[in-house]
Amino acid sequence: MSVRATEHGWILETRATAYTLGFDDAGRLIHGYWGARLPYSADYSVPARTPGWASAGWASFNGSSHLIRAEYPGYAGPSYVEPCLKVMFADGVRDVVLRQEGVELEDETLRIRLHDTVYPLAVTLHYRLHPDVDLIERWTTLSNEGEQPITLERAFSAQWHLPHGTDYRLTHVNGRWLDEMHLVRESLEPGSKVLESRRLTTSHHHNPWFAIDRAGAPANEDAGEVWFGVLAWSGNWKLVAEVTEFASTRVSLGLNDWDFAWRLDAGQEFTTPSSFAGYTREGFGGASRLLHEFVRESVVPHPGVTRKVLYNSWEATTFDVSEQGQLELARHAAAMGVELFVMDDGWFHSRASDNAGLGDWWPDPEKFPRGLGPLVEGVNALSMDFGLWIEPEMVNPDSDLYRAHPDWVIHFPTRERTEMRNQLILNVARPEVQEYLIKLLDDLLTRHNIRFIKWDMNRNISEPGWPDAPGDARELWVRYVQGVYHIWDTLRARHPEVIWQSCSGGGGRVDFGILRLADQAWISDNTSAPPRLAIQEGYSHIFPASTMEAWVTDWDRGKLPLEFRFHVSMCGLLGVGGNLLHWSAEERAQAAQLIAQYKELRHIVQFGDLYRLRSPQEHAFSALEYITSDRSAGVIFAFRTHIPDPIILPLLYPRGLEPQARYIIESFDGVYSGQAWMQTGLELNLGNFESKILRISRV
Ligand code: GLA
Repeated sequence: MSVRATEHGWILETRATAYTLGFDDAGRLIHGYWGARLPYSADYSVPARTPGWASAGWASFNGSSHLIRAEYPGYAGPSYVEPCLKVMFADGVRDVVLRQEGVELEDETLRIRLHDTVYPLAVTLHYRLHPDVDLIERWTTLSNEGEQPITLERAFSAQWHLPHGTDYRLTHVNGRWLDEMHLVRESLEPGSKVLESRRLTTSHHHNPWFAIDRAGAPANEDAGEVWFGVLAWSGNWKLVAEVTEFASTRVSLGLNDWDFAWRLDAGQEFTTPSSFAGYTREGFGGASRLLHEFVRESVVPHPGVTRKVLYNSWEATTFDVSEQGQLELARHAAAMGVELFVMDDGWFHSRASDNAGLGDWWPDPEKFPRGLGPLVEGVNALSMDFGLWIEPEMVNPDSDLYRAHPDWVIHFPTRERTEMRNQLILNVARPEVQEYLIKLLDDLLTRHNIRFIKWDMNRNISEPGWPDAPGDARELWVRYVQGVYHIWDTLRARHPEVIWQSCSGGGGRVDFGILRLADQAWISDNTSAPPRLAIQEGYSHIFPASTMEAWVTDWDRGKLPLEFRFHVSMCGLLGVGGNLLHWSAEERAQAAQLIAQYKELRHIVQFGDLYRLRSPQEHAFSALEYITSDRSAGVIFAFRTHIPDPIILPLLYPRGLEPQARYIIESFDGVYSGQAWMQTGLELNLGNFESKILRISRV
């Protein structure tokens, strides 16, 4: 596992994969190989063998820069493929010709320095290996070493090249508010397939993730080649999957260049977000397990910490919160075994509805005449942690903050400020806005024993103006996200014990960038169990269960069994969000039992490996399994939604067991080898909207 230099390039090896690159005779950085690790260095061609005709170009219509597989193509020369970099120099020259300048190798990071042949622009490509999870992280820094500003018009993080050919399928996720994370699988055809966000945030619409397999030899959950990757960024992003007319397939990923510009002043540096990508022969299941392990162990702020069962007040009380009302809910929650009580929206100054209050982050004096102290202490006295909802980036025009600083919002001076949910977006790129928010939120966290914060963001952008921007106003797209990260990082550093949740009307902002700050995410405002199964499945392709909050609410109350609804939520971070005052004593008692059961198995769900056994997006009978990394304990969740009877359900085949070890599986007789269970399968008998949990134990 290492980075090895060869005569003309480098071999990057992880546990099971390899990636090669090198310079061609003209000094251009060329991609070589990305796939399974091979036995000998000599097995790799470094750099890739570019055929002679490609090095020379093809007729007068395709120059060689169009034909080579450049690692980080700048727009230059006769090339019409997607570039990673597009700039404008002070004299109006708009192409960038990059050549080798230097190389540094440090631990598991390779840094390749390129330089423009004429202009003072240095481009450093960073390659960092995450060997145990077979991931390569790439990012780019751009430095202006001259006197004049350079305008960046596109600065992607990476271009990932698939083995030469066109026979590929792209898997991605698509959705909208209340309906996130539908898996889409389509063949890649000549031309470019673009996925992006122009919403200032990651979006419910798509996610910066791809998984590519071979159309002619498709992968499934368990086997087959998959190349996959993500972008760690919580703002506008763009993914271009391109198939050229010369049978080259590549995926470019980075900050969206739509309406983007960045003035790189003399002596300044710009760093792109990271893109992580990997390869596996273990199908889509293998790809997600690698991403999960990486997020669990290397991305989130509190790796290895057991996530608590939470109660959230939103659906019970909406804006109608009070000390007594919350404490009443809290007493029921505590009696059921809840460990963390979160008061949602409605607690701060003049927040009686979604018309007012955002921006005024202090307790509403009418609802909380004694402040938050007594409530926090009351919740703590019930042996629960206390958590709070905030939406820092937003402001209602009806707020003290807006009345004092109407110029702090994102807007164009001559245009009407479009309100959505009666709110406008604060320009958190502005240092004074950052200071205001840090001060108020720091104050809240300092005064009270708050152990959990749900950070929400409930609208997308319009009129993206920044009238008095110090640089190019189009820097807003990036500076805004940097501002969010800065506020969050500062608060985290001051209050490291706090666990944060990322929410944006459900799953509008979940990505590898935000998970560096937030340990968990609210993945959808849709809390009905059947659609939730599908949303959770899509989510599971990218993110681990240890980040996936799932609450049992009242959406299906009286329609679907409580057990079914709990089982769906127990596949992630179990929470409860119903109005407990309306629940019967029997419902609360059953909930208490299910919460106790969850606590017994949550180490498997939160830290185990996921195997998707049957897809709820494809089948009304679905199942998934988690198993500990030592393969000693597992749990299968099986669900039947609606299927007309009569039916004999198909067998479920457990996965990931140690073939030679002997296991028992709850509800089934006998002790059998892992291989036997995986080979012969399990026959389940479930009625409509019934579910089952099966514990697996090695004996
Ligand atoms: C968003 C969130 C909800 C809730 C409300 C509060 O819609 O997704 O969970 O917090 O805001 O206004």
